[in-house]
This record gives sequence, C-alpha cells and structure tokens, in this order.
Amino acid sequence: MAKVIFTSPLEERTVEAPAGTPLLEAAEMCGAQVGHSCGGACACSTCHVWVRKGDASLSEQEDQEMDRLDTAFDVKPYSRLACQAQLGSEDVEVWITEESLNAFMDENPDVRKRLEAEGKWPLKKGA
Ligand code: FES
Repeated sequence: MAKVIFTSPLEERTVEAPAGTPLLEAAEMCGAQVGHSCGGACACSTCHVWVRKGDASLSEQEDQEMDRLDTAFDVKPYSRLACQAQLGSEDVEVWITEESLNAFMDENPDVRKRLEAEGKWPLKKGA
C-alpha cells in the first residue's frame, strides 16, 4: 500500500491504495478533483498532474503517455498522466494542474456551481 496526497489550490485529499493502482483511480477513491475527459484511455491530457514526491516509485512512462503529454499545458519534468502512472510501494504527493482542475469542473458542473457560489472558483490568479 502507498499513501497518495492530492493537492490543489482548492483542497487536499489523501488515500491509501495498493501497488499497481493508477493515480486516477486513487483520485477517484478519495474524491480528488482530477479531470479525465477520455475516461483514462490516454487520449486527452486532462488528467495531467505534477508528481512532487515519489515519482521514481511510479510505473515507467510508456511512449503513448509521453506523446500525449506533448499536447498538455505547462508540462514539467515531473508531469504524468494520472490514468497512466501506477503506484509503486512508496508514498506519492501529487499536484493537480490547472488544466486538470478546469476539466474536472467542466465534468462536474454541480461542484463548479457550488464553488462559484462560495467564491472559490474560478481560481484567482496566482492561486
Ligand atoms: S484521462 Fe485522458 S489521458 Fe488520462
């Protein structure tokens, strides 16, 4: 089992999941706001996250993920697609990119409306 912490300007969620679990599945287990427009088929980049800790313990990037990340916004050396990166045995800290948060809000209009009403969405610049 590995602990995964998902962080964004909006919230932090933590979950424990077994090795081999894709980060996207771990996000869904704890309700973390990771977008996934293609449903995890490596056909979009809306599940783009930055892995801030534990990157080396994740599954290796396949060519298809690298090619897809080329179409993502603000790609870093520690960028991964949450639907493709699978947990190893070490704990992982993940930052949900703005690209992924935007997709999540498009996919979950009820959440977006609630956050808009609370003044938390859209994100303020520099958040
Ligand atoms: S959900 Fe589309 S590439 Fe991961």
